[in-house]
Amino acid sequence: MNVNPPNSLLPVPSGSFVVPDVTTVLATTKEGHLQFSLIIPTYKEAKNIPQIVEQLSRLLDSQLAGDYELIVVDDNSPDETWKVAMELTADYPQLQVMRRIDERGLSTAVIRGWQVARGEVLGVIDADLQHPPELLLQLWSEIQRGADLAVASRHVEGGGVSDWSIIRRFLSRGAQTIGLILLPGVIGRVSDPMSGYFMVRRQCLVGRPLSPLGYKILIEVLGRGKVPWIGEVGYVFQERQAGESKVTWKQYVEYLQHLLRLRLSLGPIGRFIRFGVVGFSGVFVDMGIFYLLREQAGLGLTRSAILSAEVAILNNFLWNDLWTFGDISRHQRGWRQRLERFLKFNLVCLAGLILNVLLVNLLFNVFGINEYVSKLIAIAAVTVWNFWINLKLSWRVTDVRR
Ligand code: GDD
Ligand code: MN
Repeated sequence: MNVNPPNSLLPVPSGSFVVPDVTTVLATTKEGHLQFSLIIPTYKEAKNIPQIVEQLSRLLDSQLAGDYELIVVDDNSPDETWKVAMELTADYPQLQVMRRIDERGLSTAVIRGWQVARGEVLGVIDADLQHPPELLLQLWSEIQRGADLAVASRHVEGGGVSDWSIIRRFLSRGAQTIGLILLPGVIGRVSDPMSGYFMVRRQCLVGRPLSPLGYKILIEVLGRGKVPWIGEVGYVFQERQAGESKVTWKQYVEYLQHLLRLRLSLGPIGRFIRFGVVGFSGVFVDMGIFYLLREQAGLGLTRSAILSAEVAILNNFLWNDLWTFGDISRHQRGWRQRLERFLKFNLVCLAGLILNVLLVNLLFNVFGINEYVSKLIAIAAVTVWNFWINLKLSWRVTDVRR
């Protein structure tokens, strides 16, 4: 059962956080696939590991005997949790252990575990028995009913937290509210997006580049996975058996960074924000080059204005081609196609410049609006114009060979 020679640690994947399809994994392990792989991320859980492994094995043997694996992913814990887990593999052949030396973090630990897992369904549970193991069978039946993702939730019927302080409850709910504001389409899909206890069909994640950060692996799955159907099961978050929570302020900061990173990379809003950030950088390039041409090179006003504007357009094109529309341009790699995009980008920006001047005159001279307010309105309107036309013209029309 244990694919690794007994008492040998699992290899630690490196590089990108892409979950491979199961055939790729089986090609390396030379073993058959399983229905279910459950990752147990650990850091200083030596006292809890024997109990959680025993409870999970007894539970899963009842329903999935011989067709599941438990993978402890330990980050080189000072209490040698990985060694305690290794000693258990003799009695639990379905248990495997990964000891990470160079990487740390709950979310990355889970994904490294999923990258070596052989199951069609991938799960995660905490090692400290705060996630009641018996709930696994209810989560599993959600998956059997057809759910792509089954989440243990503290915020549905039968849910709750046992010993959390008011502060921890407030922080958790506060974090969820910020997430709902920034990423309603992601955080709003489940009642407990902070949950660290769930299982997901591997197919939802295969080939999708994940970029995990901090503790909240579920929002990465919701944000970057392809998850049509979600089921939830209520549970009460238990008191810790031994050891202590590793949550510090760092995890809250990482959560906000994670939300911003997802916000910037997901959907048209994320793309528009990236386009705006690039445009904003262009203002500094434009002003800087204008200053150098006027003060250092002593060039005339109009020539300085035109040259600096063109350098800014080049700056914006390069960043937009690489970052804002990178997911599209990487399918249009040829130099001719890139030059075509640059020329179109220039034309759109030139049209945008003319639109900008016309708008400023219209708002100032016809509607009597303050000239600086007019300028700001014109910049905002032209940014939307530039974004939309570039998306439809410069980065779409060139033949995209997918
Ligand atoms: N490999 C690894 N590396 N494991 C880690 C790390 C790490 O850096 N940090 C924590 N873990 C493991 C712990 O050993 C434990 O098994 C699990 O991740 C949860 O860590 P705790 O520190 O106990 O977190 P918590 O109890 O405060 O919160 C947990 O439950 C919440 C509700 O589901 C976490 O899972 C939260 O993400 C979750 O929101
Ligand atoms: Mn815990």
